[in-house]
Amino acid sequence: MPDVRIRPLSRTAEFAACVEIQRRVWGHNELDITPVHQFCVAVHTGSILLGAFVGRDLAGYVYSFPAVFNGRTSQHSHHLAVDPSFRGAGLGKRLKWAQREEALRRGFRLITWTYDPMQALNANLNLHALGADGRTYLRNFYGDTPALVLDAGVPTDRLFLEWRIRTARVEARRRKKASPLDPSGLPAALERKPGGVFPDIEPRPPRLSLEAPVIRVEIPRHVASLGRGTGRIAAWQSAVRSAMEAYFRRGFCLDDFLYGDPSHYVLKRRRPSS
Ligand SMILES: CC(C)(COP(=O)(O)OP(=O)(O)OC[C@H]1O[C@@H](n2cnc3c(N)ncnc32)[C@H](O)[C@@H]1OP(=O)(O)O)[C@@H](O)C(=O)NCCC(=O)NCCS
Repeated sequence: MPDVRIRPLSRTAEFAACVEIQRRVWGHNELDITPVHQFCVAVHTGSILLGAFVGRDLAGYVYSFPAVFNGRTSQHSHHLAVDPSFRGAGLGKRLKWAQREEALRRGFRLITWTYDPMQALNANLNLHALGADGRTYLRNFYGDTPALVLDAGVPTDRLFLEWRIRTARVEARRRKKASPLDPSGLPAALERKPGGVFPDIEPRPPRLSLEAPVIRVEIPRHVASLGRGTGRIAAWQSAVRSAMEAYFRRGFCLDDFLYGDPSHYVLKRRRPSS
């Protein structure tokens, strides 16, 4: 890929380019799109909006606004989007690291965001590559917004992530690509029924009373490939919800993610770093 430049966006023409990326990335309709006027006021009042340019083209952007979480000021990151034609070349990660740098420069220690726990690729980016963590599971967070549901009647559950951007954990992820995980020795709070071959896989009933300090929770590698209308997406989401909620209540925290087939969350009993 030719040279990539990441820089703040400040002109309405650039905000309009972000609107176009939303259309291409999420297929949003007019009601779901964050419009130009929102970016105008947000950037004027402390939001961070950074674009990644390949040549003159805006290939992706990241957008966060000032927020308060548990009494601490933070940036809440609402969009990270890379145009499909520029994916897999490191732009998403570079945008997040640039967002971190800008947030640090402005005196923030925390960036939060939500994402769908069933999206393995995003989990890999958020937990493994960036070193975010979290212990909050939000049921049906965005209501039944059609643009955000995985399948008809499936709630818009989200994980709420906390990216403690000044910690050694996060700095270590920035300096060095995290090594692959081997979760095979970890007890599984959730895994597929034996014999299932992707995409025809079903979750076992979750085991909610494991005593180990580190456990794993399987999710399907490609949730969309489970097939809409088959009931499989709803079944996996419901099992993941039960497992995550139970272990968060017991003091576990999201710690890492292994992307593959199978894919696993790693949850650890610990206090989140500050
Ligand atoms: C998520 C998104 C921004 C990633 O952008 P990208 O430029 O393709 O991502 P990168 O090339 O920087 O990869 C970043 C990390 O994502 C994960 N990732 C990206 N592509 C992957 C793939 N094919 N398989 C597994 N992991 C992958 C990896 O963790 C990767 O880091 P690594 O290379 O150190 O392992 C992009 O796919 C996108 O716009 N998706 C739709 C919008 C969205 O879901 N946004 C919310 C993100 S929380």
